[in-house]
Amino acid sequence: MTPLAPHPFTLLPNAGFQPDEPYGEHRSGLLSSPALAQAQAVITAWPGYAVTPLCALPHLAQGAGLASIHYKDEGSRFGLGSFKALGGAYAVARLLCRELGQRLGRSVSHAELQSDPALRLACADITVTCATDGNHGRSVAWGAQMLGCRCVIYIHATVSEGRRAAIAHYGAQVLRTAGNYDDSVQQADRDAKANGWFVISDTSYPGYMDIPRDVMQGYQLMVHEAVSALPQWPTHVFVQAGVGGFAAAVCAYFWERNTAQRPVFVVVEPERADCLLQSARAGAVVAVKGDLNTLMAGLACGEVSLLAWDILATGANAFCTIPDAAAVDVMRFLANPQGGDPVIVAGESAVAGLAAVLLIAQDPGARASLGLGPDSRVLLFGSEGDTDPALYQQLVGRSAAQVLADGAAA
Ligand SMILES: Cc1ncc(COP(=O)(O)O)c(C=O)c1O
Repeated sequence: MTPLAPHPFTLLPNAGFQPDEPYGEHRSGLLSSPALAQAQAVITAWPGYAVTPLCALPHLAQGAGLASIHYKDEGSRFGLGSFKALGGAYAVARLLCRELGQRLGRSVSHAELQSDPALRLACADITVTCATDGNHGRSVAWGAQMLGCRCVIYIHATVSEGRRAAIAHYGAQVLRTAGNYDDSVQQADRDAKANGWFVISDTSYPGYMDIPRDVMQGYQLMVHEAVSALPQWPTHVFVQAGVGGFAAAVCAYFWERNTAQRPVFVVVEPERADCLLQSARAGAVVAVKGDLNTLMAGLACGEVSLLAWDILATGANAFCTIPDAAAVDVMRFLANPQGGDPVIVAGESAVAGLAAVLLIAQDPGARASLGLGPDSRVLLFGSEGDTDPALYQQLVGRSAAQVLADGAAA
């Protein structure tokens, strides 16, 4: 028995999945182990770097009839609350090295960027910008502050006040725009063109690939940490998606290392923001319109990142959607675990992967279609902690601090 009631879900096998296709030159040009080694050298040198915990959930796994469930908890990443700290900030660092290198006519290293006062002064002339629903903007603002450049972040109408304040905390100017996420993206783009600013976006589109690629390369450090800490190579990986950059970074990591034995890979989205599932159904990228109304704010995206699609279109085994109510249930039982499993503080967008596994594990047909069984070793990425503390408290009934204190006292 799993503690998750059987909410409705959709599971779509990916007709485009290519089991034997090698990772290949094209994808190696996007994400690769040498580029990950570079990202690792840069990111692990930042102040406050620490490997995030990989939590085993044996009781939950047993209830779901699986060999193991491991949950990589990104809630403590650099004090920013999500895995996004790895991506946006790394792309800012890469951009500054490229831009200063061009201006000075020589190559500029990351180490110099942080140690040379003249370079730091030159950074103050550079402005980075992006649109965000929270976590990416926080990462860009933090990276800009750490490296000494200016930063302007655009948020759309429904981004919570808590998320706005968390971005402003890192010294960025935060501008609220009318409309949805896509409208704020367009506003950031227009203002960047008018002012000579640099857009640091986590999503790619025609003509704009380098920076989102750097963002995804940063994310792979999280996968590397998880795999280094796992007792055994996983058989199944479920990853939640907004524009798909995060899922693609994870998928590519396994594909590049072992095409034949890569884990079964499932992309999970909110049912009201399912641009990847709809694209898989159509066999080509399609946009989902409307207000994308989901509690899972980080996943409320209507347009797929093209770089992500390049990887997931043939690399993902299946696409799945879940309702908000399932995510809320999972947040609650991670805060109140049974059978000795650890207490985990997980935000709304962190738990979609876990919710999907538990729903699928209860459905004999879906379970069989993914080959989930008593030998399955499932890996999940808890992509955020309580990045919106007020919403967390409202949904779980206690603050993150209370949840952790109660867990320690139990
Ligand atoms: C906590 C969290 N998880 C997952 C995602 C999804 O990442 P992507 O948009 O790259 O698919 C996001 C995106 O903002 C996020 O904030």
